[in-house]
Amino acid sequence: MDSTKEALEIGQDQVVTVSADSVAIIDFDGVEVTDAKRYTIEWDAAAAQKGGYDSFMAKEIHEQAGAVADTLRGRLENGSLQLDEMDIDPSVLRSIDKIVVVACGTAANAGAVAKYAIEHWCRIPTEVELAHEFRYRDPVVTEKTLVVAISQSGETMDTLMAVRHAREQGAKVIALCNTRGSTIPREADAALYLHVGPEIAVASTKAYLGQIAACYLLGLFLAQTRGNLYPDEIAALMGDLEQIPDQIQQVLDSSAQVEQLARDMKDTTSVLFLGRHVGYPTAMEGALKLKEIAYIHAEGFAAGELKHGPIALVEEGQPVFVIVPSPNGRHSLHSKVVSNIQEVRARGARTLVIAEEGDDAVLPYADEVIRVPATRTLFAALLTVIPLQIFSCELATAKGLDVDQPRNLAKSVTVE
Ligand code: AGP
Repeated sequence: MDSTKEALEIGQDQVVTVSADSVAIIDFDGVEVTDAKRYTIEWDAAAAQKGGYDSFMAKEIHEQAGAVADTLRGRLENGSLQLDEMDIDPSVLRSIDKIVVVACGTAANAGAVAKYAIEHWCRIPTEVELAHEFRYRDPVVTEKTLVVAISQSGETMDTLMAVRHAREQGAKVIALCNTRGSTIPREADAALYLHVGPEIAVASTKAYLGQIAACYLLGLFLAQTRGNLYPDEIAALMGDLEQIPDQIQQVLDSSAQVEQLARDMKDTTSVLFLGRHVGYPTAMEGALKLKEIAYIHAEGFAAGELKHGPIALVEEGQPVFVIVPSPNGRHSLHSKVVSNIQEVRARGARTLVIAEEGDDAVLPYADEVIRVPATRTLFAALLTVIPLQIFSCELATAKGLDVDQPRNLAKSVTVE
């Protein structure tokens, strides 16, 4: 981005001719295109360099406080929540009776967090489905369905195909995306951009946090539009959300403990991750990160599912990360997870517990406690995943692996 910050959105089958002082676009039939959308790139060349870190992934993890602040920035105007490019009539948003979130990989884990938030705030039934599964079954989608497509790149073919299928059925589509001018937001009815800057490492980190923050914004926007929450309730939630970037920074500033743990565990061959509520997608995301960059067998489970099978995997010394919800939220949720820590520990697991500051109930059952600042149960998804990202990044680095370019993977999967 040394030379320009101006960009044009180019459509499919268009040809661009660039000269010293002009840009001309023609379509497939040779007809000049005059309405290409122009936009300004918000990041500079430094954003695409490692800036002193060993890897882009490490750099992107450490950019997350600013990234989430940028996702949240400027959304409240005169006490009312505003989103970019929301080209759907409010009456349509008021009439929807179902939401389907479609995405792949890490973006799908962000979508799983969205379900908890949207159903809680808006009382709209919300499904989360892997885009490729949604596309090739026969989903019930009507004009009253809102499809939310989440994609960092905006070019994931599986997600794009799901978007096209949904629109063919008459559904409205909102894209949550990081890349301006990419195909998914261009084909959607509305777009909410993450504004987290370029993500270069194949393993998604700051975009994941941006996606979750954007899901919260969308949930609050729907609640505002449909009258599910009072303005002061939305303001209070936004106030707490705006504290999150500082809390992310606190987690990042205390990363030494997790980095040491990762180095000590570099020869480990299997790690399990457990969580309930938004801790469940966090567990899934922790396992995905470890698989994709450290090539370690890892599984994320809903903690309540343990006794239905996975607990058979636990043997002496098996490392198990447990994501503990706030003790200040629903007591039953917290106490159930503490019981799950006891269950795996009783069978020999080495328990690595991520818990809120001051939560002493976990101490008798934790081999290691990793602290995160206190926040609402829903918003903890923006904090508890960070030690897991750091763990994978550091462990893969200790193994001497290429953290940014893991084998067999591409940053953007543009084939089905
Ligand atoms: C994340 O670490 C992965 N590399 C991958 O799961 C990714 O999130 C997925 O392919 C979706 O990509 P998108 O957000 O660009 O659509």
